[in-house]
Amino acid sequence: MAALKILVIPGSLRSGSHNVKLAAVGAYEFARAGAEVTRISLGDFPLPIYDGDLQARSGVPKNAVNLKRMIASHHGVLLVTPEYNSSVPPLVKNAIDWITRVQDANESRGQGFREKPFAIAAASESRLGGSRALSALRLILSACRATVIPNQFALSFADQAYDDMDRLKNPSDIEAMRALVRQLIEVSQRMM
Ligand SMILES: Cc1cc2nc3c(=O)[nH]c(=O)nc-3n(C[C@H](O)[C@H](O)[C@H](O)COP(=O)(O)O)c2cc1C
Repeated sequence: MAALKILVIPGSLRSGSHNVKLAAVGAYEFARAGAEVTRISLGDFPLPIYDGDLQARSGVPKNAVNLKRMIASHHGVLLVTPEYNSSVPPLVKNAIDWITRVQDANESRGQGFREKPFAIAAASESRLGGSRALSALRLILSACRATVIPNQFALSFADQAYDDMDRLKNPSDIEAMRALVRQLIEVSQRMM
């Protein structure tokens, strides 16, 4: 069987981001489980705020096309999002919106996520750990026809969660990430 390819996308660009750290922990666990991992930054795919006039004038930006191709070339995706005002931040939503505007030959619009297995996680300094952002993200991705796996991981009190090597300190947090990784691997292998 071909190596399982997993794409890891953190939904923050901030230096010291709790979510970038959590994405790195996830990437480490996927590699440890034998997957081939690609970790990207949305900062390498800058996109203007979605505007229908801009699309009508100039088409979908190349970075949205590249992001869609990047997702398509992996068997599964881990998306790690911050929570902004109880939902996903514009960086994440805007990338999703643009990707759903890419229309490749022989497909109808909005197929960028179709049947792609996604695991979702969030990190926040609050007790809820970004779980409302995860509800919003699950709804958005499911509506885009992604397969969002049942497990998810909301890391609470993220400002105290990492050691000085940016590893998770709490065994229950480590196990939650490992359970998420195991389930995404299982589902992705089934859908390969
Ligand atoms: C505009 C804005 C809204 C926020 N709203 C929430 C929120 O609803 N719930 C929450 O837990 N944290 C909220 N936060 C705090 C973020 O979760 C926190 O800044 C977090 O560290 C951002 O993720 P990062 O560390 O990966 O950049 C908000 C932050 C900003 C800037």
